[in-house]
Amino acid sequence: MVKIEVLASPDELAQSCAELVVKLANQAVENGRRFSIALAGGSTPMKLYTLLASDRFHGRINWSAVDLFWGDERCVPPDHPDSNYHMVYSTLLVHLKGTNSPAIFRMHGEDEPQLAAQEYQLELDKYFHDSPGSAFNLVILGMGEDGHTASLFPGTPGIFEGSRQVVAQFIPKLASWRLSLTPVVINKADLVVFLVCGAKKSAVLADVISGRIFPINSHPKSSNP
Ligand code: 6PG
Repeated sequence: MVKIEVLASPDELAQSCAELVVKLANQAVENGRRFSIALAGGSTPMKLYTLLASDRFHGRINWSAVDLFWGDERCVPPDHPDSNYHMVYSTLLVHLKGTNSPAIFRMHGEDEPQLAAQEYQLELDKYFHDSPGSAFNLVILGMGEDGHTASLFPGTPGIFEGSRQVVAQFIPKLASWRLSLTPVVINKADLVVFLVCGAKKSAVLADVISGRIFPINSHPKSSNP
């Protein structure tokens, strides 16, 4: 089921998503489970992460029951300004010190890309091993002006990946390597939330919603033989 919510401002978007994260995290804990969330990179979610770290929100989540993953990563060290880990650390993690802090499952952008993708795949295999078939409780994604999400850029093979959950891709338009979750694991999540802001993205968002360009949950190659 696809639900589209149009909000008046980036602040309202962050507020609405923060309330959702609180609700889902607390539901997981009430059910005696941990809460697994894959975070978006880029700039849009920074307001969300900052809000979650604020006095208004951080005390409403039992962070020690939260497992933080990343939807994608730039192939740079974790302290590099372009790193999605660095962005989440600066907006959220730095404020969640001490006992009430989440478990961190970082993509190793500093490693050789293909090796880093294999390492993260093993991380996911290990994490979901105890409950086969389970997947992330929540995946938060952004969307670029070209319609890409995570690091699944138009024309890159990762969009059509049918078996691996994590890929390393050279992105020609960026002249750089990226690590990304693939539709194989994203589409299994309990819930996927796309945070999209700005008039520049409205036309491509309309194309994605209408299916005029490949949405992430369908691709010409089936993952089934
Ligand atoms: C990344 C993101 C990417 C991002 C979009 C939108 O690593 O850049 O994961 O998919 O969500 O590019 O970026 P903005 O939020 O900065 O517009």
